[in-house]
Amino acid sequence: MSTAENSARSTADSPKTSVVDKRVIVTGAASGIGAALATELIARGARVVLADLSPAVTDTAAALDSPAESGSSAGVSPEPCAETNGSAHAWVGDVSSVAGIDELIAFADDRLGGVDMYFANAGIIGPGELGENDADWDAIIDVNLRAHIRAAQALIPRWQEAGEGHFVATASAAGLLTQIGSAAYSVTKHASVGFAEWLALTYRDDGIRASVICPMGVDTNLLSAAGSAGPAQSAVTEAGTVLAPDDVASIALDAVEAGTFLILPHPEVLDMYRMKGSDYDRWLAGMSRYQHRLNEANRLNEETTHAGND
Ligand SMILES: NC(=O)c1ccc[n+]([C@@H]2O[C@H](COP(=O)([O-])OP(=O)(O)OC[C@H]3O[C@@H](n4cnc5c(N)ncnc54)[C@H](O)[C@@H]3O)[C@@H](O)[C@H]2O)c1
Repeated sequence: MSTAENSARSTADSPKTSVVDKRVIVTGAASGIGAALATELIARGARVVLADLSPAVTDTAAALDSPAESGSSAGVSPEPCAETNGSAHAWVGDVSSVAGIDELIAFADDRLGGVDMYFANAGIIGPGELGENDADWDAIIDVNLRAHIRAAQALIPRWQEAGEGHFVATASAAGLLTQIGSAAYSVTKHASVGFAEWLALTYRDDGIRASVICPMGVDTNLLSAAGSAGPAQSAVTEAGTVLAPDDVASIALDAVEAGTFLILPHPEVLDMYRMKGSDYDRWLAGMSRYQHRLNEANRLNEETTHAGND
């Protein structure tokens, strides 16, 4: 199936949703896929709060909407606010904490007059292999999973009352298949897919939609950071084309507007997912062989680097 076919596919009873004039929050919007989603949303006529832990999000918003404003923060160096009727508003803070999410939504209410769509996109790669302790796991569970649960807990009751709303999670192909080299990334992305799926089926009759974006490699800071997690990065870059964030955003928004739940910027992931489901043991054996090959390549690489340093 082509990317266009996949992104445009929706079930007959999934109405099309235009993002024109929608009031949208995008988390993890300082860079990468989040910045690209915000850019594309604004190009399609939405008004957006770009939220990120990194103060760089104010520059990202300013580039989209000059003069852009800087919002307050959940404990992170507040910037002065400037009133603007623009489409891009920056908010600096932690989107994984309950306090941060409450503050973010209050900020969006103030600047946009409400929230129609929430893109839970912020994510971290977390520890390699098994991780070493609870703190390793808590950090990634908070950002990659609990942030989604907490945002939904704040927004779903409002959306039920309004009779509409759209929750879009950026999970990963790792949430359907696996992430070689990182148990925590794999597990939290599976959980993110499961959570979005549950929202989609539970609140459908309330007029609420959920979608989940499951890319393989995308050229962002997170993919570079995966280089420090052993074979994780090569597992992603070898598996398929590394897409530009802009391409992922454009495919994702076509699919969101078409009412699609499962958004696959790399359409070949659907075949891999089908193969996994049709013969789990065969898939496990194949992945184990693949992991062995990557570990060997990684070991040889490290030996060559050490030899070069001696
Ligand atoms: N890059 C890839 O290959 C790839 C593939 C599949 C899925 N994804 C997912 O895409 C999403 C976006 O990542 P990206 O690749 O654009 O990387 P990125 O590092 O450019 O963007 C992630 C952003 O999230 C922000 N962030 C992290 N924790 C936060 C917190 N607690 N509060 C607020 N902001 C926080 C970071 O500051 C960063 O700006 C992530 O969920 C990631 O897991 C990425």
